[in-house]
Amino acid sequence: MSVEPDMNPAKNPGGCTLPEELRRYYLDTMGIQLWEEISREACEQTSEEVPEEVSEAMPTERHGITLTETRAENTEPVRLSTGETWTELEQAVRSCALCSLHASRTQSVLGAGNKSADLFIIGEAPGSEEDLQGEPFVGSAGQLLTAMLKAIDLNREDVYITNILKCRPTNDRDPEPSEILSCNPYLQRQISLIKPKVIFAVGRVAAQALLNSTSSISSMRGKLHRYQGMPLIASYHPAYLLRKPSEKRKAWQDLLQLKKVMEECQ
Ligand code: URA
Repeated sequence: MSVEPDMNPAKNPGGCTLPEELRRYYLDTMGIQLWEEISREACEQTSEEVPEEVSEAMPTERHGITLTETRAENTEPVRLSTGETWTELEQAVRSCALCSLHASRTQSVLGAGNKSADLFIIGEAPGSEEDLQGEPFVGSAGQLLTAMLKAIDLNREDVYITNILKCRPTNDRDPEPSEILSCNPYLQRQISLIKPKVIFAVGRVAAQALLNSTSSISSMRGKLHRYQGMPLIASYHPAYLLRKPSEKRKAWQDLLQLKKVMEECQ
């Protein structure tokens, strides 16, 4: 049976405080039809106990990458620094040639948004638009991500957005494990500079990399994970949601969970 959602924030603590009309606009932009059965069901689920944390991410604090490259005159490992400051990090990523993707990129894409953000959003890798513009999530998937954030009262300027990889993979193929490893120090430096409270991993690649898992995104979403002690929520990638709009209902549940966890972190 179809159920009209109850968006009254007083009755719906996991919901939003946006004016109803505006929320409907954003949800509509996300492709979520309010008259379908999602919302009450979703809100009931998200207002229940959040499931126990299921995993602890593997990557440890690593702010540089150590290559066991042997040089003729020096057999010491070469330590490649990410830099200490934003300026040094930006410079390091701009000139990075640690993996082969540097050869095909227009430019690297470090990240964008609020450098004091509580919420740190991690996607997979730049696509063609991002590669051209030098900003993450500016293509069609990015527009959906922006709408998803709006639906829980967040603007892009409120959050920090980045990717597992800072360069576009050739033909938008999946990142190679070695590329993820090479780029990881940059991600670690971003996290240590921003010190976010909550991590939102969008898509299988980001969730698997951060949680050191081979599980499907369907099984990783709907749970509260931890990454370096921070709560981490995984959800579908907006590009996937564009291809499979029927999954947007679950993404909305994930957004409500994200909002609730963020409120609890205040
Ligand atoms: N997809 C991603 O994962 N990241 C982007 O920045 C753009 C598309």
